Amino acid sequence: MPLNTDKTIEGSFQLIGGDFSIAGESSARLKSILTDLGVQEDIIRRASIATFEAEMNVIIYAAAGTLHYEISPRQIRITLVDMGPGIKDIDQAMQEGYSTAPDWVREMGWGAGMGLPNMKKNSDEFKIDSVVGEGTTVEMVINLP
Ligand SMILES: Nc1ncnc2c1ncn2[C@@H]1O[C@H](COP(=O)(O)OP(=O)(O)OP(=O)(O)O)[C@@H](O)[C@H]1O
Ligand SMILES: [Mg+2]
Repeated sequence: MPLNTDKTIEGSFQLIGGDFSIAGESSARLKSILTDLGVQEDIIRRASIATFEAEMNVIIYAAAGTLHYEISPRQIRITLVDMGPGIKDIDQAMQEGYSTAPDWVREMGWGAGMGLPNMKKNSDEFKIDSVVGEGTTVEMVINLP
């Protein structure tokens, strides 16, 4: 039992598109929850990277969204549901270096086209679904040892 509890812990955070003042807050809060639970460091690092990239995408591309987390003794499950433009070609969006970030976003240091590939790389299970004109859902699972 790697966790300090055998229960499932869950919660969610609201994300607002364009609100860079709270960017990174949800992933930081999840990180501190995982730290308090005694999750090992390399897993916390993977979960934080994946969650931060997913959170940033909602803030940059969508109007609003929700980040939901569920931590059980077996796994961390992070689900992001947004109301946004959706993604027309998911295979293309998943490619390293592909980005539609506008100039003002690039000026802030985003738009390398590495977020989605890094989410996938840091997850044991990665799922993305999107409907153009409605929104995008990302589901990531990281297994606990
Ligand atoms: N939640 C989303 N809603 C709509 N489009 C998205 C969403 N997430 C990603 N995309 C699209 O997929 C592209 C690739 O996303 P990815 O996170 O890999 O790179 P990026 O956000 O452009 O740059 P980086 O993450 O490196 O700062 C984005 O440029 C955007 O076109
Ligand atoms: Mg991104």
